[in-house]
Amino acid sequence: MQTNVTHIAIERAETSKINEVDFDNLAFGSVFTDHMLVGNYRNGAWETPKIVPYQPIVLEPSAKIFHYGQSIFEGMKAYKDKKGQVFLFRPLDNHKRFNISAARMCIPQIPEAHFMDGLTALLRLDHAFIPQKEGSSLYIRPFMFASGKGFHASPADAYKFMVACAPSGAYFSGKVRVLIEEKYSRSANGGVGFAKAGGNYAGQFYPTELAVKKGYNQVIWTDDTHHEFIEEAGAMNIFVRIGDTLVTAPTSDRILDGITRKSILQMAEDLGMPTEVRKISVSEVVKAAQDGSLKEMFGAGTAAVVSPIAGFGHRDRDYDLPELQDPYATRIKKAITDIQYNLADDPYGWRYQVM
Ligand code: PLP
Ligand code: COI
Repeated sequence: MQTNVTHIAIERAETSKINEVDFDNLAFGSVFTDHMLVGNYRNGAWETPKIVPYQPIVLEPSAKIFHYGQSIFEGMKAYKDKKGQVFLFRPLDNHKRFNISAARMCIPQIPEAHFMDGLTALLRLDHAFIPQKEGSSLYIRPFMFASGKGFHASPADAYKFMVACAPSGAYFSGKVRVLIEEKYSRSANGGVGFAKAGGNYAGQFYPTELAVKKGYNQVIWTDDTHHEFIEEAGAMNIFVRIGDTLVTAPTSDRILDGITRKSILQMAEDLGMPTEVRKISVSEVVKAAQDGSLKEMFGAGTAAVVSPIAGFGHRDRDYDLPELQDPYATRIKKAITDIQYNLADDPYGWRYQVM
């Protein structure tokens, strides 16, 4: 456990909003804790971040975030066990990926100490907001964006690094149905699909809205060249179980290197589930759905955890996944959440104790 974060200055909120939080009916990411972390990049260096009351941010109208979308984020969760101990899951991997995204978007690298110490201090201060109820957690949103001013289309000279947190329940309510997308693309070779850049998500809203109108929850993105291979969903990596083998697409320029995805790949082998990381063609999935060898599909991500897919649409047809007695998705979800909530041993060393 990291202990010394006393160098992170704290300006406390005058009153707490904790009594306004309905911990028994938490939506995802819609109520926030009392404090947030803010750090500024000015004159070529990051200042040590500070904790202040959660509040609006004041920015110049010409701040480059508004015009050129120089903005990235991360998604993490804090879990509280029965004794009130608080854990993160592989947080250093989030820090590493944050800086990979930052490099691609010309945002300066944030030092590990600013990220980890600031986050640790914030979680310790707002720990009462971390839900203990099964299936709930504190969703953590680190983000960095161009606060520097000017209409010149070039990287800004000032940035903000911030962390805001939201006690949250499940990302999806109910079963997920997905549409295999064959017109729009989320990302392209040489693009920014591997980065958690804000614009990647904005670009998905319109095609996803079209899919929602047709009765689906999410789009499954396919490769941008021929829409031939399944890649990932809007906020999750995708796993397909064909026969007894769990298959997921290799990461690339176009796909986010998900921490849940790589954890599942490691655990599945240990749970006796054969895995393959390879291209999965749409025609293979459709054929497997038709001949009955397609047993499961599920999405994986920090917000979504492991979200079973009940069925998918392809062109004008719908395919239902079978209801299994003991699906891989249930076993994998239990195995990963047991580690996250400190309900099982952590042979992988993924748990990170905050307090
Ligand atoms: N793919 C996309 C596009 C995402 O936004 C996310 C969510 O973070 C994931 C995959 C899953 O990544 P992780 O498991 O690291 O949360
Ligand atoms: C996460 O899983 O943390 C994400 O970032 C997904 C988000 C778009 C809700």
